[in-house]
Amino acid sequence: MSALFTPFKLKDITLRNRVAVPPMCQYSAVDGFANEWHQAHYANLARGGAGLVIVEATGVSPEGRISPACLGLWQDEQIDGLARIAKNIKAAGAVPGIQLAHAGRKASANKPWQGDDHIAQNHPDAWQPIGPSDIAFGAHLSRQPEQMTIEDIARVQSDFVAAAKRALEAGFEWLELHFAHGYLASSFFSTHSNKRNDAYGGDFSGRSRFLLETLSAVRSVWPDHLPLTIRFGVLEFDGADEKSLIESVELCRLFKEQGADLMSVSIGFNTPEANIPWGPAFLAPVAQRIREQSKMPVATAWGVDSPELANKTIEAEQLDLVMVGRAHLANPNWSYHAAKALGVDKAAWVLQAPYAHWLDRYQPAG
Ligand SMILES: Cc1cc2nc3c(=O)[nH]c(=O)nc-3n(C[C@H](O)[C@H](O)[C@H](O)COP(=O)(O)O)c2cc1C
Repeated sequence: MSALFTPFKLKDITLRNRVAVPPMCQYSAVDGFANEWHQAHYANLARGGAGLVIVEATGVSPEGRISPACLGLWQDEQIDGLARIAKNIKAAGAVPGIQLAHAGRKASANKPWQGDDHIAQNHPDAWQPIGPSDIAFGAHLSRQPEQMTIEDIARVQSDFVAAAKRALEAGFEWLELHFAHGYLASSFFSTHSNKRNDAYGGDFSGRSRFLLETLSAVRSVWPDHLPLTIRFGVLEFDGADEKSLIESVELCRLFKEQGADLMSVSIGFNTPEANIPWGPAFLAPVAQRIREQSKMPVATAWGVDSPELANKTIEAEQLDLVMVGRAHLANPNWSYHAAKALGVDKAAWVLQAPYAHWLDRYQPAG
């Protein structure tokens, strides 16, 4: 049996294998509502055989969306569409997950294929982004955010809590908090974006406060028996990475104490000056370090998309789960092809019966 196709249990949830689809924004919603695009997209991904499918970054408030086309869960009316998605993912044998997010200073942006930059300030679709400090990201995201007040912080945290309750009501069984990629939580932790001199800035404990408080507030409403996980930007590739990693490991230990169940290890993306060493599975050794030093299960994405490499990271106990992103956009049945490549017995049965029966019976099929 290949390691990649062994089950993985976290709390009361068991994934049928170690393949996960990470959150990937579709920039296809109107007013935060899921539509037919999202239904087909997520059903196809789950039918393709992955153990876990995490729905894209979903805004906890309108201002917390990256773009006007991002999904949201800031009102009860948005539950139904997401509930259908969760049900279809589950019906295909995968576990339905969702990522809750606030985009912070990177909010109010155009779709990636329409520029990926901030929407012009005077455009009717634009809104005022907020952040820990009034410092713009820079490069293509140059709009200056408004520095959040203590009341703003409390409001956003209660938005996370309300959205988590709605996610539960929608039937999701795995919740991921977006604490990476330069969005709000990540920007509170980073010295590139957080220059506050109150309780939410300054030293390690100040810069961690927003993240720990948000986690603990969400944990209090998310059932104990279901996984609550964090996508965490553990380093920036800005030349100060050893220092960042020491802090990140410490924060992961505190996350664990506050009830986090798994770390999805990712990049900070808080500075356009980063020098990222892109390459196959380049974050796997970093994730392994987080796993060993924080004693938490880990996942990571970023080029872990060849079946052999994915399998090796699990076998070597670098990762507990492999996040396969863009390769799933190219081929939603990635798990089937991986199972075949790794010599898994009855590989076709990674898919659902109406496909599996025929592929199994008439080998070799494409
Ligand atoms: C279209 C697209 C949308 C994405 N949206 C999100 C998102 O909503 N949340 C998130 O944490 N990462 C997002 N990412 C990053 C992916 O989850 C993943 O980390 C990245 O694609 C690298 O993994 P890969 O090499 O397997 O594609 C997105 C990536 C892509 C390609």
